[in-house]
Amino acid sequence: MESFYIETYGCQMNEADSEYMASILLSLGFEKAESVKKADIILVNTCSIRDKAEKKVLSFVGRVKNIKYTRDVILGVCGCVAKQEGENLLNKAPYIDIVFGPHQINRLPEFLNKVRNTGEKVIAIGDSNDYKRDLGTIYYPGVRALIPIMQGCNNFCSYCIVPYVRGREISRNENEILDEIRRLGELGVKEVMLLGQNVNSYGLDRGLKDGFVSLLEKVSKIEDIKRIRFTTSHPKDLTDKLIDAFSILDKLCPHIHLPVQSGSNKILSLMNRKYSREEYLEKVDRLRKVCPEMSITTDIIVGFPGEDEKDFQDTIDLYQKVRFDSAFSFKFSPRPGTKASTMENVVSEEVKQIRLEVLQTLQKEITYEKNKQMEGRILPVLIEGKNSKSHKELVGRTPCFRVTNVMYDEGNLDDMIGKIVYVKITKGLKNSLKGYLIK
Ligand code: SAH
Ligand code: SF4
Ligand code: F3S
Repeated sequence: MESFYIETYGCQMNEADSEYMASILLSLGFEKAESVKKADIILVNTCSIRDKAEKKVLSFVGRVKNIKYTRDVILGVCGCVAKQEGENLLNKAPYIDIVFGPHQINRLPEFLNKVRNTGEKVIAIGDSNDYKRDLGTIYYPGVRALIPIMQGCNNFCSYCIVPYVRGREISRNENEILDEIRRLGELGVKEVMLLGQNVNSYGLDRGLKDGFVSLLEKVSKIEDIKRIRFTTSHPKDLTDKLIDAFSILDKLCPHIHLPVQSGSNKILSLMNRKYSREEYLEKVDRLRKVCPEMSITTDIIVGFPGEDEKDFQDTIDLYQKVRFDSAFSFKFSPRPGTKASTMENVVSEEVKQIRLEVLQTLQKEITYEKNKQMEGRILPVLIEGKNSKSHKELVGRTPCFRVTNVMYDEGNLDDMIGKIVYVKITKGLKNSLKGYLIK
């Protein structure tokens, strides 16, 4: 039997696309390869959000080239770098067989056939004006499934390449999303993570008002699904109605990823984010009022053009005010074709590095402190698997999405996967919690 290997870079949209491609390939009768070296089909799902992500792709593809010298392997590159570079990729790496964009995934079987039958290269990076997934192939064996509810982005934040590589916002049909989730529930999925670059605007392109909240209400009625999460929310579109949903919908977990990007109004305006730090702080207050347990995480860019010491201090100040549960911080990386890539007053690499380290050190302290505050509490943990490092530990997540290792030496660990159990937290560590099962 032929086998496949998928290497994935980038965001959860890409992870979801890779899971989908895997289910397409499984439905065609291929099996998952143990390693890239053993695979007959190798796909690389790429990301171009920052310079580093792009470089990783070329280095991976270069390694596959050596495998191709020894065996007959089909190499496909998809995702955002494929969309952005198109034919250029073939000039840089002529041993690639297929280059296809995020809107072309449904055609994967056709591409593979073409390469097999004719030996010709395939380049397919066009846009589609609908967003459909073939539900006939859906197969996710895990406890949590990533469900894209829309593609693309209309926001054009001045630093960001996503609107150029993923196109404008296209929402999936609501019934198709619900059908997919129902089927996943039947397959044993307990938790869904609804995905989009800005889920808050789900349905606007289909003329729906409050489409996202209404979708959440419908998902929460699906019995097999016990937990619902979503990402990402753009702060400008976080409505009171959505905030209220956290107290109304029991299955909606108390965690929101709310990227702030900067704490300085000057920089937020240059970034075209369309909210001020004051408005952001107000939404955080409202979230915590409605749901005191709410875990809030964020993304930050340091060293955006024009960011001076005062702007950076504003970001630190915002960190201290919000006290995020965790944060991803990045050095600004100029992306081709974006507005920010030609802005003046660029910040030097050294200053970017220093600012990144300052923020990361501060965040580590806050994350650790927040994890420590969990000690002694009893929390419902959805068990996702076994701890690979210990034979007597299960791994799961709390409602607020903290990874939790649970001591368990009484029976078969596999029987516990997919169950929600009560866990007494004994230790808050730097990036996770530890505890034991309460009967
Ligand atoms: N749609 C999401 C973000 C997707 S990209 C949102 O609006 O929040 C994930 C993160 O990458 C962004 O939140 C941002 O912090 C970071 N990012 C995007 N473009 C970047 C760039 N050019 N340089 C550095 N970081 C960037
Ligand atoms: Fe990029 Fe902004 Fe769209 Fe997020 S909202 S994907 S940061 S343009
Ligand atoms: Fe990267 Fe594309 Fe996602 S650029 S972050 S994989 S939308």
